[in-house]
Amino acid sequence: MNFTFPIDALQQHQTPFYYYDMELLNATLNSINNEAGNYGFKVHYAVKANANDRILSTIKEAGFGADCVSGNEVKKALETGFDAQGVVFAGVGKADWEINLGLENDIACFNVESIPELEVINELAEKKGKIARVALRINPNVNANTHHYITTGLEENKFGINQWDLENVIKALATLKNVELEGLHFHIGSQITDLLSFKELCLRVNEIQKWFISQQILPKVINVGGGLGIDYEQPDEGSIPDFKSFFKIFDEFLELQPEQEVHFELGRSVVAQCGALLTRVLYVKNGVNTKFAIVDAGMSDLLRPALYQAYHKIENLVSAKETEKYDVVGPICESSDCFGKAIDLPQTGRGDLIAIRSTGAYGEIMANRYNLRELPLAYYSDEV
Ligand code: LLP
Repeated sequence: MNFTFPIDALQQHQTPFYYYDMELLNATLNSINNEAGNYGFKVHYAVKANANDRILSTIKEAGFGADCVSGNEVKKALETGFDAQGVVFAGVGKADWEINLGLENDIACFNVESIPELEVINELAEKKGKIARVALRINPNVNANTHHYITTGLEENKFGINQWDLENVIKALATLKNVELEGLHFHIGSQITDLLSFKELCLRVNEIQKWFISQQILPKVINVGGGLGIDYEQPDEGSIPDFKSFFKIFDEFLELQPEQEVHFELGRSVVAQCGALLTRVLYVKNGVNTKFAIVDAGMSDLLRPALYQAYHKIENLVSAKETEKYDVVGPICESSDCFGKAIDLPQTGRGDLIAIRSTGAYGEIMANRYNLRELPLAYYSDEV
């Protein structure tokens, strides 16, 4: 199943905009449901990757839960119709109003990242006469071998509770009457392409589980987070990530106790390949060693290249001329406003329609109004 561009229809719209292939999204969701279903695994969609209304409701319809990292994400998930029992709330810095919102809506679980947070949740739950279900986010100290900005599971990162602090957490839990331990939560990072990192995570989870069991604690849920990477280089060859191999690793290496549930929080792998940022060339300008294709999308529309030096495949959808090298840059007053250097494109001219691929995840949602630019619009394959 490949991403397709209805070029004539897309030419009717003013650029820049995001374009979503809903068939590819649905095929991806089916693949996840089939592969995770084989093992009875439960998948929560990481709303942070893309909270566009159409995308979110399609994912809800496919039966996923929602992994939220802010009060507004919790609100959005509930408004979209996700069942509160499928909503989990993570994040190192939950504000009181956000915790209260979760409590009032009886969400499934708070993923807790520190003892002070556990105490605050307990206090707020007590005020409401409720018991909050919590999972402990444990820092497994596993290296995800990914960009350092999106590595989260190392002791030096701000995320999670370190293993040497677990005894104190257990002591705290014994005294806090308005929180109930539901599970253990892990997440080692994002855009992980070496599946061995997930095997390492499983082995670490087994060790940590053993320790909990030795303390007479049996967590009901093991949440192993998200992080499965996608093929940015070849979006068409890898349009649906290899969910089969991914889930198989957890089936093979996690040592589960009877009745235990395994939960996942997938973001990028669900939505990245179904989105593209469409932009037009405004000018082609000769530089000293290079040609610049100056396009009408900028880092305000797609931040990933500027923020993480991320690679996205760039295609000229309308030219079939001979290939030349271009630096594809945006109009924003920053040198980092560059989508790719020395990119091979068929000879490109003013007005050509350009696609920046694999931008369904962390694209539209990270857009901002720098330089007072408008936020990008979105169109969908079943509506163009
Ligand atoms: N669970 C937790 C606790 C997370 O922190 C994240 C992502 C996920 C799940 C989902 O991970 P995914 O399946 O999408 O890899 N803006 C960056 C990515 C930041 C990821 C943050 N956490 C980017 O554009 O690459």
